[in-house]
Amino acid sequence: MRVEGREAKIARDLIAHYDVHARRLPWRAPPGANASVPYRVWLSEVMLQQTTVAAVGPYFAKFTERWPTVESLADAADADLMAAWAGLGYYARARNLLACARAVARDHDGMFPDTEAALRALPGVGAYTAAAVAAIAFGRRAVVVDANVERVVARLFAITTPLPAARTEIRAAADTITPDARAGDFAQAMMDLGATICTARNPACGICPIRDHCDAVLTADPAAFPVKAAKKARPHRTGHAWWIQRGDGHVWLVRRPDKGLLGGMRALPSSDWGVDPDATPPFAAQWRTLEPAVAHVFTHFSLALSVHATHVGQDHAPPGAGEWWPVDRLAEAGLPTLFARAAEAVEKEGASNARQ
Ligand code: ADE
Repeated sequence: MRVEGREAKIARDLIAHYDVHARRLPWRAPPGANASVPYRVWLSEVMLQQTTVAAVGPYFAKFTERWPTVESLADAADADLMAAWAGLGYYARARNLLACARAVARDHDGMFPDTEAALRALPGVGAYTAAAVAAIAFGRRAVVVDANVERVVARLFAITTPLPAARTEIRAAADTITPDARAGDFAQAMMDLGATICTARNPACGICPIRDHCDAVLTADPAAFPVKAAKKARPHRTGHAWWIQRGDGHVWLVRRPDKGLLGGMRALPSSDWGVDPDATPPFAAQWRTLEPAVAHVFTHFSLALSVHATHVGQDHAPPGAGEWWPVDRLAEAGLPTLFARAAEAVEKEGASNARQ
């Protein structure tokens, strides 16, 4: 008789729990079904990076209804895709999504390759996505490590090395518990455990299906894992944006350069964002500055965006490339959240002026 080691027991107990408690998610096949559609798995995994399941749900529904196959997505116009992505954040993902869909349509006959290495060769597909798609869509054994899995593994093995240095160790430990069979279900079971039981702040160790195998539960504070290196404070930046409104209810929108933050997205004309950015407006006019500035937090900095507004005549042409967009249809422009909030601030100011 083969004696089952700790690693195998972890996988066995976790998958048994998943068989009963798997979250039902729109991109998921039921446990054990082995029938996930690669396109849907890939799309969901890209959307779920740095974004919660709850936030992704409506976007996943909208995308799969509008673009039901990877080939239809490959045919989408860049601007339509960027606008549909608006609000999900991390817009480089949307540009990579399109590049990847086009590569699959063009170079792979519309079929996702079924190995981790071939997936990794697609544009914008990193180690995580390649492993997740190989395991979940194709049942390949692959070590899938996202932030949830990282937390679960760091606790199971009470890894005291702080993140990010601990990543190599955590990955190696994750490798030891990844089973040959049902690697996709195992990966998703780890994610579900991290999202629902082995949560960052208040892990519910009492109902954990693998608590018997966990080192952290024997310590005074399981939530102390994973240990994190002290965080640097997030720097603060300021910026200026200009709301240029024409008499017939149109506002001037530009497209941001492809490279860089919010690249390729529609936006209000704006300054650089920095310590003391150039506040010179695009042209001389009577500008009024909205108070307060729009506060927004990006991953690497926080921003106070001052919004300056003016009205122009019917035949005014602001400098540079851009387009006049009807203010009452601004929701369709696909503005990223920062600029959508700037527009809201202008609208609020207009409403309060009208009341006065
Ligand atoms: N987060 C990232 N991918 C996921 C998935 N497949 N299921 C649940 N949460 C996830």
